[in-house]
Amino acid sequence: MTIVLKVNGDAHKLDGDVDPATPLLYVLRNDLKLNAAKYGCGRGQCGACTVLIDGEAVFSCLTPVGAIGERLVTTLEGLGTAENPGPLQSAFEEKQAAQCGYCIAGMIVRAQALLAQNPDATDSEIRVHMQPNLCRCGTHMRILEAIKAAGRTMKASATKGAAQ
Ligand code: FES
Ligand code: FES
Repeated sequence: MTIVLKVNGDAHKLDGDVDPATPLLYVLRNDLKLNAAKYGCGRGQCGACTVLIDGEAVFSCLTPVGAIGERLVTTLEGLGTAENPGPLQSAFEEKQAAQCGYCIAGMIVRAQALLAQNPDATDSEIRVHMQPNLCRCGTHMRILEAIKAAGRTMKASATKGAAQ
């Protein structure tokens, strides 16, 4: 079975030997060399591996690569670059939300799923949405501030775009 994965705007034809049951996380990291998503628990309990599939935050450690089909995968790498960071990436940096950094890719990706729908999310909406993702360094308050700041940026650029 040939699997073609659409990731961050590019189509990747996987090696025919890839077992369709392989977790997406392993394919992203080992085959596509997209290393932002991290292995934390492998059981859907930490969120370090979070990516977007058609805009929805999912645990890539639990998602079989053969079950994705035509849907679009987005990883942290698809949300911006070091030279041209996206709003969440900039806000996480400005608010110094990372300590060890291990959870941060998953945090940003899960936050993206929320802000794309609702850049005006309240504190409690953000807290509920972000619940599946854990930070063992305990930088949750800075993460919350960064998500709110990014929401303001995204809302301002949407308003500006609508006025043009
Ligand atoms: S590694 Fe996927 S949820 Fe922990
Ligand atoms: S910054 Fe270390 S786990 Fe979150």
